[in-house]
Amino acid sequence: MQSIYSRADRKLRSLLNSNLPNSYDFSIRATDEHRSAYPGRAADIFFSNQGKPVAKWLHYLPIYDQLLGSHIGSKVKMLEIGVAHGGSLGLWRKLLGDEAVIFGIDIDPKCAALDGDSGSVRIGSQDDPKFLRDVVAEMKGLDVVLDDGSHIGRHQRASLDVLFPLLGEGGLYII
Ligand SMILES: C[S@@+](CC[C@H](N)C(=O)[O-])C[C@H]1O[C@@H](n2cnc3c(N)ncnc32)[C@H](O)[C@@H]1O
Repeated sequence: MQSIYSRADRKLRSLLNSNLPNSYDFSIRATDEHRSAYPGRAADIFFSNQGKPVAKWLHYLPIYDQLLGSHIGSKVKMLEIGVAHGGSLGLWRKLLGDEAVIFGIDIDPKCAALDGDSGSVRIGSQDDPKFLRDVVAEMKGLDVVLDDGSHIGRHQRASLDVLFPLLGEGGLYII
């Protein structure tokens, strides 16, 4: 019988050898292979994106449908940590609809130019508790957090410590 390690190794190698795109293939043309590997509404939006680049692992796309599907068309209040080029805020807007309250935060002052495109953008660090509290106060509530910021553990922890308790009933925290 194969050990769990050799099975994991084989799986990893098959993924590495795959022709499927990775998160840096921002403007890939979706083939039938991609579409069948990554079905769903978030994937439809991602693959048809002609606008600002979105940096998402492709295998996350169906998971976003699963996690966010119940909020489509609602007044959900979503905060994304990490705005970059602004494409992911556009993805959330298209997925969730016009009623959603979408905020993004980023430490890079250049992202301020994206404020108002698909959501509100505020500039500050995810490890600054006062900044985070001020943003949530402005949002007047918080239902979903998606931490796609620095990817540094102590930053993720600092954000979690502040934001998790501010989530409303049934809230969702995605890192
Ligand atoms: C992976 S990119 C975000 C990608 C974007 N969410 C998307 O899907 O297209 C990470 C972003 O986090 C920002 N960032 C890095 N450190 C940060 C911090 N301490 N606080 C807030 N944002 C930070 C970077 O400036 C960068 O724009």
